[in-house]
Amino acid sequence: MTATYQAHGDIAVITLANPPVNGLGHSTRAGIVDGVNRALDDASIKAIVLVGEGKGFSGGADIREFNTPKALQEPSLHTVIRVVESAAKPVIAAIHGMAMGGGLELALGCHYRVAVAGAQIALPEVKLGILPGAGGTQRLPRVLGLEQALNMIVSGTPVRSEKLAGTKLFDQMIDGDLLPGALSFARGIADRRPLPKVRDIRIAHANADGYLQFARNTVRAVAGPFPAPLQCVEAVAAAVGKKFDDGLKIERDLFLALVQTPESKALRHAFFAERAASKIPDVPADTPLRAIRSAAVIGAGTMGGGIAMNFANAGIPVTLLEMKQDALDKGLATIRKNYENSMKKGKLTQEQLEQRVGLITGTLSYEAIGSADIVIEAVFEDMAVKETVFRKLDEVMKPGAILASNTSTLDVDQIAAFTKRPQDVIGTHFFSPANVMKLLEIVRGAQTAKDVLATVMDLAKKIRKTGVVSGVCDGFIGNRMVEQYIRQAGFLLEEGCLPAQVDKAIEKFGFAMGPFRMSDLAGNDIGWYIRKRRYVEKPDVTYSKIADKLCERGRFGQKTSAGWYDYKAGDRKAYPSDEVNRMIVEHSAEIGVQRRKVGDEEIVERLVYALVNEGAHILEEGIALRASDIDMVYLTGYGFPLFRGGPMFHADTVGLSNVLMAIRQYAKGQHPEAWKAAPLLERLAAEGKGFN
Ligand code: 3HC
Ligand code: NAI
Repeated sequence: MTATYQAHGDIAVITLANPPVNGLGHSTRAGIVDGVNRALDDASIKAIVLVGEGKGFSGGADIREFNTPKALQEPSLHTVIRVVESAAKPVIAAIHGMAMGGGLELALGCHYRVAVAGAQIALPEVKLGILPGAGGTQRLPRVLGLEQALNMIVSGTPVRSEKLAGTKLFDQMIDGDLLPGALSFARGIADRRPLPKVRDIRIAHANADGYLQFARNTVRAVAGPFPAPLQCVEAVAAAVGKKFDDGLKIERDLFLALVQTPESKALRHAFFAERAASKIPDVPADTPLRAIRSAAVIGAGTMGGGIAMNFANAGIPVTLLEMKQDALDKGLATIRKNYENSMKKGKLTQEQLEQRVGLITGTLSYEAIGSADIVIEAVFEDMAVKETVFRKLDEVMKPGAILASNTSTLDVDQIAAFTKRPQDVIGTHFFSPANVMKLLEIVRGAQTAKDVLATVMDLAKKIRKTGVVSGVCDGFIGNRMVEQYIRQAGFLLEEGCLPAQVDKAIEKFGFAMGPFRMSDLAGNDIGWYIRKRRYVEKPDVTYSKIADKLCERGRFGQKTSAGWYDYKAGDRKAYPSDEVNRMIVEHSAEIGVQRRKVGDEEIVERLVYALVNEGAHILEEGIALRASDIDMVYLTGYGFPLFRGGPMFHADTVGLSNVLMAIRQYAKGQHPEAWKAAPLLERLAAEGKGFN
């Protein structure tokens, strides 16, 4: 059992012992009920203390049990809380570290709560697409008042325990060690009767109905496709307007409905996917790490500047190296401007700005970077330039330094071979803007040492990125897949669509931005440059030439105020372009394609299944370690809709046999060569399985 029982004189202590976060799985729940019953049966026990072992009180219900029979197996969390609340002897929750979700709900069912400072107090269920389902929406407003409780429940944001001192949530804040403090508190109240119950507290508010209506309006406006936030308001409304037990029932019904929604399943998938991504099967968690106390970045352009900011934001001093003084000055000035913009938005104080800028030093000399623990190269995307830089780095960097490349398309193994220490070379593929985007693809070369990989994974966390490991291949995980997506988008134009229709359809599906608006933002010339090089190497790959024609007209996107759309000065809005639309229609005629009306469903399927099919190849080749890693890449780097959980999870939701059926159908169209179903997809579909 994952809860233990110990008598400390006349006080029983039940310790939740279910690492890593004392999730309230079945065996822990059963342990608590057994412990309470044992204490009640023992005449020498006067009070019961509930405490958590390890890093906190409890992180809540065991999310892994959701949608399994164990989640509802008695004693359920409701039963546990009922047993605790109706116990004839006082039960005290002693909180440290965190009391979240079901953990906080359990504490609210106790007669008393004591806490040390620094504990994270939260009902974060909404972030998993659900609401607190064990009385949290009914009890938290009773101890914190309607407004603060509603804010916490709708946002899921943790509040530190000391900030809640003085509310009815905590009967006492404990200075010093928690358990002795809790035992002493327990002895002080052991004989007090009646036992206080949160359910008996009345919620006082001068204008509850008005406030709730205001909350509904505000929440509706920001909840997007997620149903849970609004349901949180409804559950709290029940706490105000209904009897306690009726409110509890409303909360329960809403919880059970939400837990089944695809949005909640997607959010839970993303939660576990993020944690799974940090695990590499052949690199043990206890692999010794190389210390990263200083960094260097080569190239102060678009990416180099953003990468340097990441280090400065994490308090790591970083030296930025350029070829020429003016490029260096420009790069440093851009960094300062970015920080100033953050300051204007209130995200940074002047002092923080100066501190961060102060951590970034510019240089033109390789001698100045030799002692850095890691160096990230972000120079032009040209193998000859990379070769010069890596040969130089091999000369000047101290032994054991990590040599990383931010290349987006070049072969990391070839880059590693320019050095005599390929084991120290790795790819760190940041996404633009590098100081903002969460994704970091970590490219493992054939010879990359395990401790280098482990160190860079750890560094990703320190600089607040989601690190996902990719093997070496053209485009790595993200761009290799997006190439197929963009390819389909081009074919759709030839067959009958215009850019705005494609973008609208996929944005309605939930993408932050459609492929054409995205290309205009990134710069159409980047893709043009890559195609010129790539498709010479791969002459058999078909693609629509419309994008090349666009570039031949100098329509590079927002930076030239003209791309797939027209742009007006000082306005990022995309206006459909008659010139481009005409060009597209003429192009179809030139290549002899009879334009037809293409439905939105076809647009979405072709774009998304192109991603899925390439993802399946990537998975089968071992470029990605697991399907959920691919989902993380798309959720954090490409604006794939979170409520759909990523392309591979989405495919699982649709059913792989349905995906395969659609792919076979599209293979009968204009471009069968682009629709060769991945063998893994065929196999899993035949077996009735999913990717995840
Ligand atoms: N159930 C099961 N496993 C959980 C869990 C939970 N509630 N919370 C965290 N874990 C696991 C993680 O998957 C991870 O496992 P791994 O080591 O095998 O990958 C491990 O615990 C550590 O998690 P983190 O890396 O996130 O550790 P941190 O120390 O950074 O954070 C935390 C700890 C703040 C508790 C964070 O994990 C968290 O926010 N967890 C989610 C909490 C939550 O949403 N609780 C509500 C659950 S729903 C509920 O209670 C329903 C109820 O109302 C009926
Ligand atoms: P950029 O052209 O904005 O910047 C490159 C910088 O490197 C320039 O300032 C240049 O002066 C400097 N430089 C060139 N050769 C150098 C040398 N030998 N020594 C020192 N400095 C040198 O290019 P950008 O966009 O920042 O790209 C850099 C790298 O990042 C490329 O490999 C690119 O493929 C990759 N990348 C780019 C992304 C983007 O969206 N721009 C996204 C992800 C990766």
